[in-house]
Amino acid sequence: MPASRVSLTRYLIEQERDHGTIPPQLRLLLEVVARSCKGISLSVTKGALGDILGATESENVQGEVQKKLDIIANEVLIEANEWGGHLAAMASEEMDSIHVIPNRYPQGEYLLLFDPLDGSSNIDVNVSIGTIFSVLKKPTNSPAVTEADFLQAGNQQVAAGYCVYGPQTTLVLTVGNGVAMFTLDREQGSFVLTHENVKVPEDTQEFAINMSNMRHWDTPVKRYVDECLAGTEGPREKNFNMRWIASMVADVHRILTRGGVFMYPWDKREPNKPGKLRLMYEANPMSWLIEQAGGAATNGKQRILDIKPDALHQRVSVILGSKNEVDRVTEYHA
Ligand code: AHG
Ligand code: MN
Ligand code: MN
Repeated sequence: MPASRVSLTRYLIEQERDHGTIPPQLRLLLEVVARSCKGISLSVTKGALGDILGATESENVQGEVQKKLDIIANEVLIEANEWGGHLAAMASEEMDSIHVIPNRYPQGEYLLLFDPLDGSSNIDVNVSIGTIFSVLKKPTNSPAVTEADFLQAGNQQVAAGYCVYGPQTTLVLTVGNGVAMFTLDREQGSFVLTHENVKVPEDTQEFAINMSNMRHWDTPVKRYVDECLAGTEGPREKNFNMRWIASMVADVHRILTRGGVFMYPWDKREPNKPGKLRLMYEANPMSWLIEQAGGAATNGKQRILDIKPDALHQRVSVILGSKNEVDRVTEYHA
């Protein structure tokens, strides 16, 4: 093993030393999340042999049937993060209300939010899936933790990231000082820094959207996609490629790696909901990562990170990725 390999632990310690961005409790938190992701990654790779495929009989607060792996991943994250003393409470896509750290453990100052298993429809078909997380600080003046403590805008996040379980298991992280990627070394059992200072190109010729919803879209999104599809003969005068993995983690990972624009916009199927994706544990962490890599993220009208949430599981329209394309879609909404 080359001596120059930087582990996640070393990266976190050096970030604190050089930039003061990761106090010890936050480092512990990030290491525990990373360890949880290693555990989830192990379950994922077992597939049918590990009895992790298929659905359960329960539904989450969104009314979606929970997959076995949704529940397993949620439990792994809860159990690993409960006892360390770094958290005050957790919130998850798979839990209706917040999980306050039980009295038998010390309480810390951080709040952890996660989508334990993103891309659930891809589990059984062996396509990339992931875990998304966001870290906030508990507002100092509150004596006990309540759901209201979580309702902070994304610009208040102190750390955010995801782990994608694909051909490689890759952890992607920001603490507000750029974006770093770590690849899981399965022999060593450790995450190794493999890409620092990740940058999303400002321009792209690739978009990601679920085209089957086209007839339900609003005019600005329809206009943007129509112009991409018109290729060299259209107003954009260039051809576009399209990708849709149906795991936000995998689509965002591609965009962080080679650029692109990802859209899950509001549509007319459920006109009273602002979109499909959830603000607090999907859109916020991903938007911060994308912005930290030089990209942009809006809901068509405003920066996602400036949205003041009013509910834990609230949904949001999402347009994120290469800056010039996101700006264009956002301008079409004006
Ligand atoms: P989750 O599996 O956590 O519910 O999230 C799935 C999300 C997101 O990952 C993906 O971009 C989108 O749903 C796919 O939706 P469609 O099936 O409507 O394409
Ligand atoms: Mn998700
Ligand atoms: Mn999920």
